[in-house]
Amino acid sequence: MDNLPIIKLENIKKTYQENVDALDDISLTINKGEFVFIVGPSGSGKSTLIKLILKQIDATSGKLIVNGKDVSSLKRRQVSKYRRDIGVVFQNFKLLKDRSVFENVALAQRVIGIPKWNMEKNVSAMLSTVGLLDKAKANPKELSGGEQQRVALARALVNRPSVLLADEPTGNLDPKNAWSMMKLLDDINKLGTTVLVVTHNPDVVDIMQKRVITLEKGKILSDRSKGGYTYERN
Ligand SMILES: Nc1ncnc2c1ncn2[C@@H]1O[C@H](COP(=O)(O)OP(=O)(O)OP(=O)(O)O)[C@@H](O)[C@H]1O
Ligand SMILES: [Mg+2]
Repeated sequence: MDNLPIIKLENIKKTYQENVDALDDISLTINKGEFVFIVGPSGSGKSTLIKLILKQIDATSGKLIVNGKDVSSLKRRQVSKYRRDIGVVFQNFKLLKDRSVFENVALAQRVIGIPKWNMEKNVSAMLSTVGLLDKAKANPKELSGGEQQRVALARALVNRPSVLLADEPTGNLDPKNAWSMMKLLDDINKLGTTVLVVTHNPDVVDIMQKRVITLEKGKILSDRSKGGYTYERN
């Protein structure tokens, strides 16, 4: 990869309430094109990190630079544009139950005003990438949990963000579906998207052999450039 920083945290601190540092003086750099796992016990600050990058919350102190932009200095009206370049998937993917699979993905394109012809092409290409083109007309209710999560992934990626954030994307999936989701995230990363995955799944981390950042009580316990899930095993 080209070693260009895409996400940079400098001495980031996030305090929700007095005496609780969800993130405590975190500094780290993620380069363009990296695939990074964020692991650590419950309450260690993983989702807080994701929310900061999405600018759903602001840091208490420190500096966060994403795509060359100082996130804390973004004006309100700049935030939606900033977020366009960041795709996100959560454990509880929320698809619109009264819209088709195609429409669920298409909506992401409509809100940014992509013309119909391009939109149809982009949505079809994305559904094909996640292996669901044949389900385009289906209702999300007719899909398995793994398929629904792949629709959520297609929706997160259809606008071609440079960064994909995934907070326990396999949390509700059985091992087979969890694994196919990980394979997809790896494929997407190989096409150039920077991918951050929060996970509690040690097997996945062990097999993938990617960079692993372990958080504990809001601090970085370890940051290995390539390796497995070491937290509860040491
Ligand atoms: N909105 C909030 N208000 C107050 N405290 C919060 C809030 N959100 C998170 N916290 C606290 O911040 C700390 C980190 O929470 P966070 O959600 O980042 O953990 P996590 O690593 O994602 O945990 P999990 O693995 O359970 O999802 C915890 O102590 C949590 O209780
Ligand atoms: Mg969390």
